[in-house]
This record gives sequence, structure tokens and C-alpha cells, in this order.
Amino acid sequence: MATILTLAGDGIGPEIMTQAVDVLNAVNNKFELGLTLESGLIGGVAFDATGEPLPEETLERARAADAVLLGAVGGPKWDAIERSKRPERGLLKIRSELGLFANLRVAKLYPQLVNASSIKPEIISGLDLLIVRELTGGIYFGEPRGIRTLENGEQQGYNTMVYSTSEIQRIGKVAFELAKTRAQAAGRPAKVCSIDKANVLEVTELWKQTMIEIQQADYNDVALSHMYADNACMQLIKDPKQFDVMVTGNMFGDILSDEAAMLTGSIGMLPSASLDEAGKGMYEPCHGSAPDIAGQDKANPLATILSVAMMLRYTFKKEEAAQAIEQAVSDVLDDGLRTIDILDRSETGLKQVGCQEMGQAVLAKLVQ
Ligand SMILES: NC(=O)c1ccc[n+]([C@@H]2O[C@H](COP(=O)([O-])OP(=O)(O)OC[C@H]3O[C@@H](n4cnc5c(N)ncnc54)[C@H](O)[C@@H]3O)[C@@H](O)[C@H]2O)c1
Repeated sequence: MATILTLAGDGIGPEIMTQAVDVLNAVNNKFELGLTLESGLIGGVAFDATGEPLPEETLERARAADAVLLGAVGGPKWDAIERSKRPERGLLKIRSELGLFANLRVAKLYPQLVNASSIKPEIISGLDLLIVRELTGGIYFGEPRGIRTLENGEQQGYNTMVYSTSEIQRIGKVAFELAKTRAQAAGRPAKVCSIDKANVLEVTELWKQTMIEIQQADYNDVALSHMYADNACMQLIKDPKQFDVMVTGNMFGDILSDEAAMLTGSIGMLPSASLDEAGKGMYEPCHGSAPDIAGQDKANPLATILSVAMMLRYTFKKEEAAQAIEQAVSDVLDDGLRTIDILDRSETGLKQVGCQEMGQAVLAKLVQ
């Protein structure tokens, strides 16, 4: 029997997780998936309870589970505590301890939400792109790092951006494989765009060279292009539909995936998956803990609910159940239900709902 560890975390985490767990339980019954759910602590709530943002017990249970579903961590309450104990460190640690090196973020525009984006409809309608971000290396983990005092008394902050060939190869393979799968499903040629800054950073010169070598060795059937990170930021706004799969390192991926998220209008709609080499994963919404709306029943639970769909697809290979969730989400949008982040006040026939009502509406579609 497969086990899922749910980690609600901080801020809006518990609210969105409650809705996602209801949906997960419903598909578990409907499709007889045989999944068992457990819950644990991470982030600020874990620090408050145990003094650690990622308690050893949580880590052990995450290792033992087949998949992890995470809400969000962090908030102003913990911003002033020692850096190593901050909630976000718990998140970085669980990703690296579980070897979750591949972060998949889909920026897909639901046609019902075309007006929620600040970009013109003709630029984004039909958008469906995937950003594959390396998650456990690069400048976020590179050593040495710190803030030191120089001989003249001035302080200096420093970080190190490092990637080895094997790290680049494994993330490259994930991107090429996913490009092939997506192309097959859509009936068109596969393509990957690798994002680097090879004009100024040696580490990404190696990145680019390694991508070329992987493609030439194993993926002749996938078209590979390259783009500098700054140009990629511009192209995502100018003509996002030119991309299918974008692959990049940790920091560029962090920035580009948030930008891609906003193309779709709301970060509250976007799920993500972080996978290890065996396909085990942690699934979470792309957004943070939204402390400004926490506890007010305003949060959009759909990104977390769609993260459940990704989990069923990638870790448990239950495509039918995954599609049922995605269809239920699309159906509630068709019905005009909108949380405040995706509400277009100029459009008629829409109903503003809270986190709970949105989640329960998705649930009702699944069990009807
Ligand atoms: N994966 C994570 O857990 C994660 C990711 C990013 C930020 N954080 C943490 O979250 C805290 C807040 O960070 P932030 O404000 O930069 O980013 P955020 O994503 O939490 O919020 C940004 C804006 O988007 C809104 N928003 C986010 N999710 C929403 C949802 N589901 N429904 C409706 N509106 C939503 C918020 O209200 C806010 O206005 C910080 O402590 C940060 O470190 C955590």
C-alpha cells in the first residue's frame, strides 16, 4: 500500500491542504487507488513545536513515504530567527535530503482565465509550457557561501555557482524525456530550449556544452535550442508560445518559473512536482504561504489540488485519476467560480468564492 505524507506548513498552507486532502480522499475511493495518508510538520509550525524547521521525524517519514504533498512554509513570524532555523531552510533541506533534483512547473492557461492575465489574450491563449528547473545544485547550494569582513572592515557577501557534468546530464535527460512525452501526446515535434548565461558564466558554458552532448548522443529526435536567461525573460512576455520545454539551473529557473506563472494570471493556479531519480516526488503549489491572506478563507486551493493530479500522474502513474481532477477544476471554472486572485470584475456571470467553497466545488464534481 502506497503512503503519502502531507505537510501543510504555514500561512495558507493548512487551508489549501484541507481542500487538497478532501479531493485526494475522494479520488482514492473513486478509483480504488489504495493510498494511505499521513501528516507531519514542516516550516515555522515545526520550528515552534520542535525548534527545527525540518524535524528528523518528518524527514524520516518523508523518506519512507512514496510521495509528499506540501502546502507552503514561511511567514513574518519567523523572518527574524537565525537563518539556519528559518522555515524556508526546512524546505531547501527536504528537497536536497530526498534528492529531488528535478522541479517541473507547468504554466498552462485555462481558457476560462484568459482575462486574468495582464498579457494580451492573443499572446497567451493556448499557452502550455513546462519549465524543468534543477533544484538541488547551483548557486543556492554552492559552497563557499557567507558574509565576511574584508581587511578594510567592509563586509562582503558571496555565493558560489557550481554544476558538475553529471548534475547537468541528469536534469537534461529529464527535460528531453518530458519533451518527447509531451510531443507524443500533442502530435507534434519535440523541442527543448536550454537557458544559460554562457556569455559570462563559465558554469553555464559547461551547462550548454553538456546539453549539446546529451542531445547528440541520445536525443536526435528532440530539437535543442539555447537562450540567454535575460533574453528568455523578455521572450516569455513577448512570445511565450514559442517554448514547449525550457530547462535551466536553480536560480534562473526560480525566476523564470515565477514569470511564466504570471503569464497565466495567477500563481494560485499552478502546481509543481519535484522528482528524484526513481520518480518519487514532492508535490506543491508554486506559490508561498501568502501571510497577507492567511486564515481569511481567501486562498485559491486549485494549485494544491492540481499538485495532487501531478502526483497521481508522475509518481503513481494513475492518469485517469489525474485527468478526473483536472477536469473537475476546469468544470468549476466553467461554472464561474473564482477565488479573489482569479476574479475578473469586468466579466459577468462569475461568483467570488473562498478557499473552502472552491475546494468543495471541485470535490462535488468528482463525486457526482
Ligand atoms: N514553497 C514555499 O513554501 C514558498 C515559496 C515562496 C515563498 N514562500 C514564503 O512565503 C512567504 C510569503 O512570500 P511571498 O509573499 O513572496 O509569496 P507568496 O506566493 O506567498 O505571495 C505572493 C502574493 O500572491 C498571493 N497568493 C499566493 N498564493 C495564493 C493563493 N493560493 N491564492 C490567492 N493568492 C495567493 C499572496 O496573497 C501575495 O499577495 C515568505 O515567508 C516566503 O519565504 C514559501
